[in-house]
Amino acid sequence: MLRTAIRSHANLSLQTAQISKRFMSAPAPKNIDHIKRVGVIGSGQMGLGIAYVAANVSRLPVTLMDISKEQTDKGLKFMDRLLEKDVAKEKITAEHAKGTRELVTAANSLSALSDVDIVIEAASENLNVKSAIFRDLDAICKSDAILATNTSSISITKIAAATKKAEQVIGMHFMNPVPVMKLVEVIPGLATADNVLQDTLALAQTMGKTTTVAQDIPGFVANRLLMPYINEAVMLLEGGVASAKDIDTTMKLGTNMPMGPLTLADFIGLDTCLAIQKVLHENTGDSKYRPSVLLQKYVDAGWYGKKSGRGFYSYNK
Ligand code: CAA
Repeated sequence: MLRTAIRSHANLSLQTAQISKRFMSAPAPKNIDHIKRVGVIGSGQMGLGIAYVAANVSRLPVTLMDISKEQTDKGLKFMDRLLEKDVAKEKITAEHAKGTRELVTAANSLSALSDVDIVIEAASENLNVKSAIFRDLDAICKSDAILATNTSSISITKIAAATKKAEQVIGMHFMNPVPVMKLVEVIPGLATADNVLQDTLALAQTMGKTTTVAQDIPGFVANRLLMPYINEAVMLLEGGVASAKDIDTTMKLGTNMPMGPLTLADFIGLDTCLAIQKVLHENTGDSKYRPSVLLQKYVDAGWYGKKSGRGFYSYNK
């Protein structure tokens, strides 16, 4: 089924044709057997999810890199829990789960990524952090390795400028929780090569994901739409228009959202929401993207949402 997904030429051609003339003549997706090993930077909820789908669905060996053993151990423990749950639900066999686990190797240095064919970076949403990582990857990785970033809003072109091979750099924006959400938004930067775009789309499809292609604008498509929606909900709360619970219930039951906007903000992380909203505001200069004062206050207080135990709601840690 996954191989069939890679060969879904018509769908892919339609997507690429819609975004820009530059990709209108992009060839049908080619075989990606040359992608033999994946590197993932960051073993938090996004990085771990990406490593999980690369190993469990694409059946590719993965090097999962984070700065400390404590971090990678924590990530791998979570992966074990995901696998156990999938086995218990008979989604996969115990043998498949064992195979998945064996495909993932932990590492605590970027130099471990010297043999991978694609790196997917899922470090924190900060341009300086990402630029430093990409500068190092430029020196460490094979010259033809794809350098992908899971940034949710930062310019791919800016991140690529930290390297000497901007043509190899691309955005590969997964949604949280990665094992569940079906979308990967793919964002070529100004200089991204067409073969890098095609390989990235094909790889995401082997992970069982549907792909969309977006231009390199602040927030791309997903967060250009989602963040103003979340921000408006926070502004309603700030203005005392309704309680958090009633805002969420309105959207959950009134518009069939799986989560209300404030629950979703807590789930994404209020620090991440604020960082994305600042990118939208600063990079467009448009006041309509101004983050609400209340969101800034919550982040200042260390109320980051579910991960810190408190956001718009309280959580048992
Ligand atoms: N990691 C892995 N799997 C998870 C998970 C996690 N963190 N959280 C839930 N799941 C799995 C559950 O294990 C369960 O799997 P099974 O079907 O195999 O049992 C499945 O998701 C459904 O979970 P639940 O039954 O516990 O709960 P639910 O039905 O309420 O679904 C949800 C949970 C999938 C998170 C759902 O509430 C949802 O879709 N919420 C919206 C999520 C969303 O909008 N994500 C995008 C955020 S934006 C983003 O990521 C981009 C960005 O740049 C900010």
